[in-house]
Amino acid sequence: MSFWAACLVLATPAGSEACATCHLEQHAAWAVSRHAKAATNALFVANFKEEPLQWCLTCHAPLGDAAAGVGCSSCHAAPHNKPVTPVSCEGCHQVNFPKARVDPVTPGAWPMQNTFAEWRASGSATTCKQCHLSKGHAISGGHDLALVASALELITRRDGEELEVVLRNRGVPHRVPTGDPFRALRFELLDDLGLVVASERFGRDITRGPDGWQVTRDTTVPAGQGEVRATLRPRRPATRYRLMLIYVGTTTARAVPAEAESVVLEGELTSR
Ligand code: HEC
Ligand code: HEC
Ligand code: HEC
Ligand code: HEC
Ligand code: HEC
Repeated sequence: MSFWAACLVLATPAGSEACATCHLEQHAAWAVSRHAKAATNALFVANFKEEPLQWCLTCHAPLGDAAAGVGCSSCHAAPHNKPVTPVSCEGCHQVNFPKARVDPVTPGAWPMQNTFAEWRASGSATTCKQCHLSKGHAISGGHDLALVASALELITRRDGEELEVVLRNRGVPHRVPTGDPFRALRFELLDDLGLVVASERFGRDITRGPDGWQVTRDTTVPAGQGEVRATLRPRRPATRYRLMLIYVGTTTARAVPAEAESVVLEGELTSR
C-alpha cells in the first residue's frame, strides 16, 4: 500500500481544523500559506514524483497527511503553555543532503538547506518570527515576490558594450535566496523586441563528492549587506532588464513553469 493510500485508510484528522474554532484568524492566514500547501503544491508534487522518499514527508507532511501540510501542531507542540522560539524553525529549515537517496536517509556531511546557520552566522538580533510572522501566520518568503523585491537593491552600470549589475542585500540575515538549493535568481538583459540578449544566474552549483552531495559554488546574495556582481556583454543592444526568481530543478522546472519562473524586478536601462 502506498503512503498516501495508508493515510486515507487511517483517515488521520488534519489537526489544524481543531484549532480553527478558537483561533480563526491564525487559521485563515495559515490556510493560504506555503506551509499549508507544503505537500500539495505543484513544485513539491513534481519533485516528489522523481524522488519519492519518506524522508521528504517528515518536513513537508509531518502530521502524516499530505493535505494537512505543515500544520499548527508542527510548530506548536504544547499549544497553551510553551513559547515558540526560532528553534522551532531550525528542525525543518536546516538540513544536510542525504548520503544516498534511499530510505531510511542517513545525513551526509554538507548542508542542503542552510538558513538557520546563515542567520546565526550573521549575528542578527532579529529572529525568524519577527520578520516572517510580522503579518501573522501567512508566513511568506520566496513565493511572495513583493517581499523578495524589497530584499534587494539592483544597480546597473553601462561601460561601453558591457553592463555591470550589482545585487545588494538590504539587510536580510540569510542569503537571498536561501532554503531550497534549486532556487536561484537570473538577471536578464532584453532588446527592443523583448528577446533575452544576455543573462547571468545567481545560484548554487551542486556536485557529488565522497561525502555525498555538496554545494561547491554559491553565487546567491550573501546575508546582511552582502552583494554579488557580474559583467554582461549583450549580443545586441539591450534596452530593458529583468530579475527572475527561478527554480532550476531539471524536469521539475519543466513540469511547473508557472511556479518555477517569476519576475521580481524589471525596468528600462538608463543611458549610462
Ligand atoms: C476551545 C478553544 C481553543 C482551542 C480549540 C485551541 N485553543 Fe489555543 N488558545 C485558546 C485560548 C483561550 C488561548 C489564550 C489566549 C490568550 O492568552 O490571549 C489560547 C492560546 C494559544 C496560543 C498562545 C499561547 C501563548 O503562550 O501565547 C497558541 C500558540 C495556541 N493557543 C495554539 C493552539 C493550537 C495549535 C490549537 C490546536 C491544536 C489550539 N490552540 C486550540 C483557546 C483554544
Ligand atoms: C511554521 C510554524 C507555525 C505554524 C505552522 C503555526 N504557527 Fe502559530 N505561531 C508560530 C509562531 C512563531 C508564533 C509567535 C510566537 C511568539 O510571538 O512568541 C505563533 C503564535 C501563535 C498564536 C499566538 C497569537 C499570535 O497570533 O501570535 C496562536 C494563537 C497560534 N500561533 C495559533 C496557531 C494555529 C491555530 C495554527 C494553525 C492554523 C498555527 N498557529 C500554525 C508558529 C507557527
Ligand atoms: C515541520 C517543518 C517546518 C517547520 C517547523 C517550519 N517550516 Fe517553514 N517551511 C517548511 C516547508 C516544507 C516549506 C516549503 C513549503 C513549499 O513547498 O513551498 C516551508 C516554507 C517556509 C517559507 C517560505 C514561504 C514562501 O512563500 O516561499 C518560510 C518563509 C518559512 N517556511 C518560515 C518558517 C519559519 C519562520 C518557521 C518557524 C517559526 C518555520 N518556517 C517552521 C517546513 C517547516
Ligand atoms: C530581517 C528579516 C528576516 C529575518 C530575521 C529572517 N528572514 Fe527569512 N526572509 C526574509 C525576506 C525579506 C525574504 C525574501 C527574500 C528571499 O527570497 O530570500 C525571506 C525569505 C525566506 C525564505 C524563502 C526562501 C527564499 O530565500 O526565497 C525562507 C525559507 C526563510 N526566509 C526562512 C527564514 C528563517 C528560518 C529565519 C530564521 C532562522 C529567517 N528566515 C529570518 C526576511 C527575514
Ligand atoms: C529537513 C526538512 C526537509 C526535507 C527532509 C525535505 N524538504 Fe523540501 N523543503 C524544506 C523546506 C524548509 C523548504 C522551504 C525552503 C524554501 O522556501 O526555499 C523546502 C522546499 C522544497 C521545495 C521548493 C518548494 C517551493 O515552493 O519552492 C521542493 C520542490 C521540495 N522542498 C521538495 C522536497 C523533496 C522532493 C524532498 C525529498 C527528496 C524534500 N523536499 C525533503 C524542508 C525539507
